[in-house]
Amino acid sequence: MKPPKRLQPLIDEGMVDTVLRQLMSGKEATVYVVRCGDEVRCAKVYKEANQRSFHQAVSYQEGRRVKNSRQARAMEKGSRYGRQMAEEAWQNAEVDALYRLAAAGVRVPKPFICFEGVLLMELVTDADGNAAPRLNDVELTEATALDYHAQLLQQVVLMLCAGVVHGDLSEYNILVDAAGPVIIDLPQAVDAAGNNNAGAMLERDVDNLATYFSRFAPQLASSKCGKEIWGLYQAGLLKADTVLTGRIKENKRPADVGAVMQAIHLAEKEEEERRQRMQMAE
Ligand SMILES: Nc1ncnc2c1ncn2[C@@H]1O[C@H](COP(=O)(O)OP(=O)(O)OP(=O)(O)O)[C@@H](O)[C@H]1O
Ligand SMILES: [Mg+2]
Repeated sequence: MKPPKRLQPLIDEGMVDTVLRQLMSGKEATVYVVRCGDEVRCAKVYKEANQRSFHQAVSYQEGRRVKNSRQARAMEKGSRYGRQMAEEAWQNAEVDALYRLAAAGVRVPKPFICFEGVLLMELVTDADGNAAPRLNDVELTEATALDYHAQLLQQVVLMLCAGVVHGDLSEYNILVDAAGPVIIDLPQAVDAAGNNNAGAMLERDVDNLATYFSRFAPQLASSKCGKEIWGLYQAGLLKADTVLTGRIKENKRPADVGAVMQAIHLAEKEEEERRQRMQMAE
């Protein structure tokens, strides 16, 4: 096909030889199948910021690393330079996450480069060499559903051990190749240690898996692995080979209301003292 304009820089640089076809046009990107030498790869072209949706939300941005404080200030101010930096940070987040996860042994497409807003990565294929179907498009038996669910929980644990929470894990962002599920679509991935919403996002990812697979294996509807995984992670006890029980220990102790009230009073007192100091300094 005639190469789309956004892929031209990669052709000019010799990273891509020919564009074979468009694979998908999603909410946030258009994906092409391309030839690079004698390999067939996948090129994900990110849409411009104003065409994208909820992943720009503040909850995903927290804890994102930028190169320096000048960039951080520019991003906060929302200047043109700042928007460009935010755009780059967003695009690099996916390639960074892919490198980190591939190194940790998570089943993700192998990344090659992110250049001019295009991520070049391995094309995930089915047994016949065609682009792999999404989990959502695959009919499952109960046994396969249980197997894929277990495999994916293992992958989520491996990801968290590498410090990453997907943040948008669902049957639409998982492909199925000959060996099982492969996780894709990570520009919104969050840093588990640096983002206050990471625990809630992990739980949502894990709940999404249980809800989806429970269509084929109803017993999965009640599994409670999200809280369990996050609890182990926070306690520093999560390992790649941790065996999950699907249950969590409920904290049966009554809440210590007295201690909470005391903490509130203390904070109020500190704030009052701070205000007095400020007044005195004026
Ligand atoms: N490495 C890959 N190998 C094979 N197919 C892929 C690969 N990456 C993406 N795709 C295909 O392109 C689709 C869109 O990719 P992705 O989910 O990363 O982008 P998106 O813009 O977030 O799309 P959506 O809005 O559908 O989630 C996927 O559902 C999948 O079918
Ligand atoms: Mg997607």
